[in-house]
This record gives sequence, structure tokens and C-alpha cells, in this order.
Amino acid sequence: MTITNLQCRLAQRPAPGLPDPSIWSFTEETVADEAPDGQVTVEVLYCSLDPAMRTWLNAGRSYVPPVRVGDVMRATGIGRVLTSGAEGFSPGDIVSGLFGIQAYAVLPASQPRQLDAAGLPLPVHLGALGISGLTAYFGLLDIGKAKQGETVVVSAAAGSVGSVAAQIAKAIGCRVVGIAGGAEKCRLLVDELGLDAAVDYKADGLNDALKAACPTGIDVYFDNVGGAVLNAVLRNLATGARIVISGAVSQYNATDAGIGPTNYMNLLVARASMTGFVIFDYEDRYAEGRAQLAKWIEARKISPRTHLVKGIANFPAALNQLFAGENTGKFVLEVAEP
Ligand SMILES: NC(=O)c1ccc[n+]([C@@H]2O[C@H](COP(=O)([O-])OP(=O)(O)OC[C@H]3O[C@@H](n4cnc5c(N)ncnc54)[C@H](OP(=O)(O)O)[C@@H]3O)[C@@H](O)[C@H]2O)c1
Repeated sequence: MTITNLQCRLAQRPAPGLPDPSIWSFTEETVADEAPDGQVTVEVLYCSLDPAMRTWLNAGRSYVPPVRVGDVMRATGIGRVLTSGAEGFSPGDIVSGLFGIQAYAVLPASQPRQLDAAGLPLPVHLGALGISGLTAYFGLLDIGKAKQGETVVVSAAAGSVGSVAAQIAKAIGCRVVGIAGGAEKCRLLVDELGLDAAVDYKADGLNDALKAACPTGIDVYFDNVGGAVLNAVLRNLATGARIVISGAVSQYNATDAGIGPTNYMNLLVARASMTGFVIFDYEDRYAEGRAQLAKWIEARKISPRTHLVKGIANFPAALNQLFAGENTGKFVLEVAEP
């Protein structure tokens, strides 16, 4: 039987702003019946949809090289081994790795990781137990050094990284305030995730709302969005505050120089720090992070949430939906039914 691989490729670099659909092309290739020696062929089941994908489309220096024009779009995924030319992998194994937005990935056996997928739905291994959860865990505890009794504020708190960071902060006994767009997401943060308060950054009066929600000031800010929200937080810091720069979603599609932290002198006044980090630097501690996240999930301190969109053809629109806040929890592309 001939197996055809459908692939989504970067056809040209985007102009600043939300990517136009014309930057993508779809190609088809035949997949060999057997994986080459030393390689495995994986049927891709799920791909992670990440705001950072937008930054990988730009030429220039970043924490990873840009996706090359003509290449299959880079994406982390979960899949099932179809054929194996390497020891350690057998057909049917569930694996995770950098598979790309395509139906099948043929890759060196050094790349995929065997997944112990018992118990939880597979997409959770891209969300609360994947890079999102690890980013929340190390960002909040190692960079932010959040401690019991402190006031923690998390932006994009209804999203993948943010919802886990906020729930970890609750689990360790912090007062937690989530920032999200719209009344429904704010309701979810308080009623379903159990946060102490929520602030709608799309409503008027962000600064006053933050002040009211954090009467003793903000000890730790886990920042996923940057821009105007970061500036409002800077006005409400407690002495000794730590700002964790996880990302800056509000700036990834900027068509001008973007909004920087104009209120940064408040760092001086509050004797505060602002630290960026890249989760890949914690690779040798991933097992520790996953073990603790799994315990919190089992104890129902963290409720993993997944937002599925189906089909490779829907990838271009789905990427842009992240920037319209259309997801709640981890946004995942279902490439094939498991
Ligand atoms: N440092 C690292 O190593 C690392 C690793 C992974 C991810 N990250 C970062 O973590 C952050 C969250 O990623 P994620 O995968 O969990 O995405 P996500 O939060 O699930 O999705 C993005 C969310 O951002 C919010 N948003 C979009 N445009 C916005 C704007 N202009 N202003 C404010 N909020 C906006 C939307 O929620 P609303 O409806 O609330 O607007 C949207 O749902 C990103 O900045 C990402 O780059 C960092």
C-alpha cells in the first residue's frame, strides 16, 4: 500500500503582523515502506500549537534558528511508530519529538522519545506534562522563586503555560491573580481553576483592577504577554518582586517597534528583578519537573485542559487563532485520530 505524506511548508517569510495564508504551501510525498537503517517512521497524531512558532518564521537571531523557507513547519508532536530501522523502537510505540506539521515524520532514532502514555489523554503530554507544564514549573519556582503566602500574577492565565503556572502557584499556597481576555475566561479562572481573582485586560482600568486584586502588591509576575499588561504590572510591584519573562505574545505580530517596558524604573523603586529564560536550558531537570507535575495532576491540583483543532489544512488558521485568544488551555492540532 502506498502511504502519502501531507506536509505544511513555509513557502515565504511573513511580513510583520499576522501571517497571511499565502506564506504556507502544502506538499505530498510518498513514504517508504520501511524506515531506513537507524531511523524511524512515525505517524503523527498530534502537534503542539505554540505562539513561539510565529517568531520562528522570522529571519534573524533567536533562541532557535528560523524555519528555512521551503522546510516543513517545525512543531513538537506525539505519534505512533509505523516502521523502525533502529533498536529501541517497534511499530505501535507511542513517541514524542520534533515531527513538524506533517502526517508522517522520518527521523533519526536519536530524536524521538518513548512516551509512557498510560492514564492520561495523549495531548496532555504536549500541555501540562509537556513543554508548557515544564515552562510553568521552572519559570515560576526556579526563576520566580514563588513562595507560600506571596501574591502571584500570571498573564495569559487561561492559556496553556499560564493555566499551569497559576495552578502550581495555588498548589504551593500563594494568592493567585490571573489576567486573561474577556469575562468568560476570567470566570473560568476563578470558578474552575480556583484562582483568588481574575483581571480582564481587555476591559478599561487595568491598572486599577490590578491594584484592587493585589492590595499588598505583586511579589511574582509570570509574564506570557509583555506589552501594555507588563507595564501595568510594573506599576503594582511589591518590594523585592520577581518578574519572570516567559514570553511576549502581544508583541509577536507587532508591525512597529513594539511596546517595551516603559515603567521599568519601578524595578529600581521596588528593588525588583526581571529575568528571561528558555525552557530548553532545563533539559537535564525535565524528569524532575514531569514527576512533580504528574503528582499535582493526580492530586487534582492541576486540571489539564486541551483545545483541539483537526487537520493539517487548518494549521495556518489555527496559528493565527492563538493570537486572537480563541484557545483555552493547550492548543493542539489533531493530525490523525489515535
Ligand atoms: N520561555 C520559554 O521557554 C517558553 C516555552 C513555551 C512557551 N513560552 C511562552 O509562553 C507564553 C504562552 O504560550 P502558550 O503556548 O501557553 O500559549 P497560550 O497562552 O495557550 O495562547 C496564547 C494566549 O495569549 C493570549 N494573547 C494573545 N494575544 C494577546 C495580546 N495581544 N495581549 C495579551 N494576551 C494575548 C490569548 O489569551 P487571551 O484570550 O487571554 O488574550 C491566547 O490564548 C508565550 O509567550 C510563549 O512564547 C515560553
